[in-house]
This record gives sequence, structure tokens and C-alpha cells, in this order.
Amino acid sequence: MANTKSIHGEWSSRFAYILAATGSAVGLGNIWKFPYITGENGGGAFVLVYLACVIAIGIPIMIAETLMGRRGRQSPINTLTTLSTEANANKKWHYLGWLGVLAGVLILAYYSVIAGWACAYVLKAFWGGFSSDAIVVKESFDSLMASPGQLVFWHSVFMVATMSIVMRGVKGGLEKAVQVLMPALLALLIVLVGYAMSTGEAYFKGLSFLFDPDFSEIDADAILTAMGHAFFTLGLGMGAIMVYGSYLPSGISITKTSLYIAGADTIVALLAGIAIFPLVFANGLEPGAGPGLIFQTLPIAFGNMTGGWLFGILFFVLLVFAALTSAISLVEPIVAWLVENRGFTRAKASVLSGVAIWALGVSVAFSFNIWSGFKVFDKNIFDLLDYLTANLMLPIGGFCIAVFTGWVMQTEHVKEELDLPEFIFNAWTIFVKYVAPASVLLVLLHVLGVF
Ligand code: PHE
Repeated sequence: MANTKSIHGEWSSRFAYILAATGSAVGLGNIWKFPYITGENGGGAFVLVYLACVIAIGIPIMIAETLMGRRGRQSPINTLTTLSTEANANKKWHYLGWLGVLAGVLILAYYSVIAGWACAYVLKAFWGGFSSDAIVVKESFDSLMASPGQLVFWHSVFMVATMSIVMRGVKGGLEKAVQVLMPALLALLIVLVGYAMSTGEAYFKGLSFLFDPDFSEIDADAILTAMGHAFFTLGLGMGAIMVYGSYLPSGISITKTSLYIAGADTIVALLAGIAIFPLVFANGLEPGAGPGLIFQTLPIAFGNMTGGWLFGILFFVLLVFAALTSAISLVEPIVAWLVENRGFTRAKASVLSGVAIWALGVSVAFSFNIWSGFKVFDKNIFDLLDYLTANLMLPIGGFCIAVFTGWVMQTEHVKEELDLPEFIFNAWTIFVKYVAPASVLLVLLHVLGVF
């Protein structure tokens, strides 16, 4: 065993860990991104590919990434150094930790801007409630997008909130907040699904869009997006769950907790889809409306509902919190590394990384308005960061994690961390050695045009 405890502290219980890791997994990915990319990629068939990726690639890699963290007990970079030494492997593996740190920084830069939209909507809900007219709702969203000042302001608010939580460390406040917020978010989503059911015919149209697969809608890019999203939504491939795993006390089952986390994450995404698509069809909107989808649909529901004013405020507050519990896991790897290797205090490490990410985020905020014409590979800065991280960096990171646990680490060490009955261990090994890496590789090579 490398270390028995992390210098940064430990989760106080199994439940605390499940909540924190679920907090990392459940976020904008489930409620904002899943519906809009499903809408852009034709619905049911895309959902099936995404679910297949969660099961065949996501869950096995989640187990792998968590066990690496728990065995290494440090930031992903140092964990990889320790584990490759233990396995007598090449020390260059620690670059995998760097890839993750970089992905976390790039993701948070745009994640925070989108979370800023949700912050702005809390205030919108508070001041005037929402209109029940789809056109008014869309105009209000467009005017937010057109304002660099507002976008930067809300992005800054969100970054300050994130970094002030990160500063307080593993146990301070975070564990407690998540205990209340996660169940509340679930309850509100169920209220929204209830409202969606009241749309009658549109409800069934929404359901069949989500669950009736039409495979003619699927091409290589859609498969890449679905696979990338499986990584993104579970928070895999960049060291977030690895660093959370490094705070996991020994003796807690990594397999069981991973199943709970992935299950909860998937349920939240599907509920969000069931709440949103009926509204899209009931109001003559386009499922492929893009990143603004939930901001152009849910307000209509709040505008129509009795008490919608209050539900609107609650929903967007909870969305902001769901985003916060993910955001803190995105910076934790770099903060932990700065503390370990540069001897910074948590406060100093948080401020420094926060400022750098904030600055990058400003360029993302501008990419929706004054810099919208600036494109690389035909993508603006937001699209570029999203594509680069979710579709490339996370799958590549996940591929390397699978290879590392499946082929580089010694089997006894892996067994020691997982402590599973033989046949389950063998099944997991097949996925991590063959199924997951081969699938990721095939999709990536196909998209790159190799075959
Ligand atoms: N899983 C988070 C979400 O769905 C985002 C995230 C990505 C968190 C990568 C951690 C690591 O919103």
C-alpha cells in the first residue's frame, strides 16, 4: 500500500463520499448538456449509444480511476508517479495526470460561464418571473447572450463561489451542503416531469423522441459525442474522481459506490430529458436549438405553472448548486498538486488557479457575442473548448486509465483495492483490459478518418 491516508484529509463516511462524487457527476452535464446534445443528434438512438457507453466504458473506468486514486492517495499527477514506481513502469505515466489537470482547467473555464447563465436566471426568476410565451423567453435568452458585461459578471460570481468552497477543503461545508441539495434537485426535477405530463400529446412526442431510436440519425460524430458525454457526465478521464478516490477511506467498496454514482447520474439526465422535450414540442420549438435549449424551454413551464415563480427560483438555484459541486471537483486536482509540490496553502493555490481559469472563461463569455466571429476549425472558443475536452481529452484520459489499471498495475494491487468475488473481478478486468480501451480507440480512429 502506497500511503494509508491523504495529507488533504478524508471523507467522513461512505455516504459522504457517495454524495460528493455524485455531486461531481451530476451537474450541468445532466441538465443542460444532455438534453441539448440529444436534441442536436436526433434523440433515441443517441440516447441508446450514450447509455451503452456509460455501461461498457464509463462504469469500468470509473472503478479503475477511483482505485488508482485510493492507492496513490495524492493529486493525480503524484498518484501516477507513485503507482508507476510501484508497478516498475515508466515514470512518464505522470503526464496522464497533467493531461487531466489541463482538461479540468479548460472545462471549468466554459463550465463557469454556463453556470453563470443559471445564476442570471435565478435573478430573472426573482424579478419578474418568466413569460409563458416561447418568443419572449427566447428573446430574453438572446439578450443575455448578447451582453458581454452580464456574462462576465455572472461568470465571475460563479468562479468566486467555486474557489471559496475549494479553499475550505475536503470536509468544510461541502459535505453538508450536498446532503440537502442533491435530494432537493431530484424533487424539483420530478415536479417538472409532472408538468411535462400535463402537456398531453406533446408529452408522448417528447418520450418517443427520447426513447424511440432512429439509427439513421447516427453518424461517427454522434457516436463520438455520445461517448465523450459519457465521460463528461460521469466526471471521468481527468482526475476528478481520482482525487476524490484519494480521500476515500480504505475498506469502502469502490465497485458498489461507482454503481450508485453512475445510476444516480443517469437517472437525473433522463429525468431532465423527460421534463424538457415535451415542452419543446408543446411550444413549437426545435430540439436542435443548441446550448440555449433548457433556458428557452423551462422558463415557459415556470411561466405557465401556478407557483411557477417560486419553482423557477428554486430550480435555477439548485442548478447553480449542482454546477458548484461539479466545479469544485474540476479544480481539485490542480489545487491538490499546488499544495503538494509547490508548498502553497490551500487558499493561495485556490486563488491562483481561480484567477487563471477566470481569465480563460472571459474569452468564452466573449465567444457568444463580440468574439463570435473568431473561429478555429469552424468552431468558436466555447465550441472548441467543449469539443477538445469532452470529445478528445476525456476519452484519451479514460483510455490511458483503463490501460494503466488493466495492463500496467500489478493484478494483486488492483485486487487489494477492489476486494471483489473472483468472477466479478474477472468480468471487470475484461472490460478494462479490452472492451473499454478498444471501443474508445475505435471511435477516435474512426473520427480521425483512419478507417
Ligand atoms: N460531471 C459534471 C457534469 O455532468 C462535469 C464534470 C466533468 C465534472 C469532468 C468533473 C469532471 O456536469
